[in-house]
Amino acid sequence: MSNTVVVTGTSTGMGKATVAKFAAEGWNVVATVRKDSDLQVHADLPNVRTLLLDVDDEGAAESFARTAVEQFGRVDALVNNAGSYQMGPVEASSMEQIHQQFQTNVFGLIAVTRAVIPFLREQRSGVIVNIASLTAEQGYPYSAVYAASKAAVVTLSEGLSLELAQFGISVRTVLPGQHATRIFTKIDMAEGEALDPYRAGIEEFFGNNAPTGSDPSVTADVIHQAVVDADPVKVHYYSAPDSTAIPRAKQILGKEGYWREFREFVHGRPTPLWKTLTPSPGDKPVEWGL
Ligand SMILES: NC(=O)c1ccc[n+]([C@@H]2O[C@H](COP(=O)([O-])OP(=O)(O)OC[C@H]3O[C@@H](n4cnc5c(N)ncnc54)[C@H](OP(=O)(O)O)[C@@H]3O)[C@@H](O)[C@H]2O)c1
Repeated sequence: MSNTVVVTGTSTGMGKATVAKFAAEGWNVVATVRKDSDLQVHADLPNVRTLLLDVDDEGAAESFARTAVEQFGRVDALVNNAGSYQMGPVEASSMEQIHQQFQTNVFGLIAVTRAVIPFLREQRSGVIVNIASLTAEQGYPYSAVYAASKAAVVTLSEGLSLELAQFGISVRTVLPGQHATRIFTKIDMAEGEALDPYRAGIEEFFGNNAPTGSDPSVTADVIHQAVVDADPVKVHYYSAPDSTAIPRAKQILGKEGYWREFREFVHGRPTPLWKTLTPSPGDKPVEWGL
């Protein structure tokens, strides 16, 4: 019997690529989208059932989990991929925007996870993979709230992995580097006069750090690896060159040394050592309209 994976947020980007990867590997896939117009997005793939789910709706999580299990009779893996990007200085972001960022990236993810755990615990097996971000490793300017939400995903995954190991359930977190996806076309951007004092800093940062991004299939492969990995203890998976460099750079520079090098990079002054340790992804420039 084929294994079954549930993947959230699969209309585009890494979620869509992950559905394609698992389908190609012979898995049954329960994919979620949040718009009726996206229900056919995986229509050409075998063994994929697409359900509606807005992870912000915590009240829908339990009935969603039951429906997901009913599709193929069991669930072996959950990939919490759905996520959004709130951008702008903390001062200029509204508290509503900040709450919304955590609602989708953290609370929604937790609600879906809590609803699926009983099924995995009952069968005493399963893998949960939570999609974080390389920004969880250091707070980027003008994305600090997003980074904080992804840092929460990482520490949640660590603690949860220790709670669930006794039931034969593994919990992993994937930290992707920058990818060229539609998330950058849907940014929840801070607005208004409160932005004015920050405009020069924003221009400096983004002017000095032209966005590039890997193909979403790079991370789909890592997500698949995180699910099938026989290592019961491993939690952290880095994907794409700008993210896989982080553990190496931190090991060599130490935590404080890494932070100082990162600050220079943010201000457009990457040191030769930093450039060596964190090669530019170079895959292709981010096309904001992807
Ligand atoms: N792109 C990057 O550089 C990057 C780097 C590191 C981590 N990530 C993370 O990777 C994950 C996938 O992002 P992506 O880059 O592939 O972007 P994407 O193409 O925009 O995919 C995000 C998916 O999440 C869905 N989604 C958003 N809010 C949702 C909600 N409230 N309920 C259910 N689904 C929701 C989106 O649906 P709609 O189509 O309806 O909006 C979409 O299917 C996210 O968690 C993101 O934070 C991205």
